[in-house]
Amino acid sequence: MTAAEARSATDAPRRRPHRFVVAKVDEIPPGERRIVEAGGREIGVYNIKGRFYAMLNRCPHLAGPLCEGQVVNAVESSGPGDVRLEESRTYVTCPWHNWEFDVETGRSYWNPRLRARPLPVGVEGGAEIEAAMERGEVDRIPGPYRAEMIPVSIESDYVVLSLRPARGGTSS
Ligand code: FES
Repeated sequence: MTAAEARSATDAPRRRPHRFVVAKVDEIPPGERRIVEAGGREIGVYNIKGRFYAMLNRCPHLAGPLCEGQVVNAVESSGPGDVRLEESRTYVTCPWHNWEFDVETGRSYWNPRLRARPLPVGVEGGAEIEAAMERGEVDRIPGPYRAEMIPVSIESDYVVLSLRPARGGTSS
């Protein structure tokens, strides 16, 4: 690479990252959620039985703060006296009108035409993140204390959120 090529490579405008470090994995234990701001949007990041999920904090019904609501499982019944908790299906309940949205797909049985917006989120190692940060592919968002950025070290695993739309998938 010539000096001119190297200079133009470093002068090239960097694309804004679409992936963000949310927290160390153990900072969002099972059953907990954290609402973060990334790319100008509020997003709820959930740990549900060790798997991470993320959803835009905006209800598709009337724009309520969806991620401030409860997390519940589906209940199934074939008739009177038969009630089963379906633990494999989990819903976020909007606090405004109690519509429930599937945490994986964003679908609601209240209105199948409206969908909440799930986002991809997963766990990555610190070394991998450091390398991606150097390439400008990953950014950090403020921690629980607004002015504090999440420090990244290679010894830890981190929850990483992507703002590119999910196809209903997640990872743990
Ligand atoms: S605004 Fe969420 S259910 Fe109405």
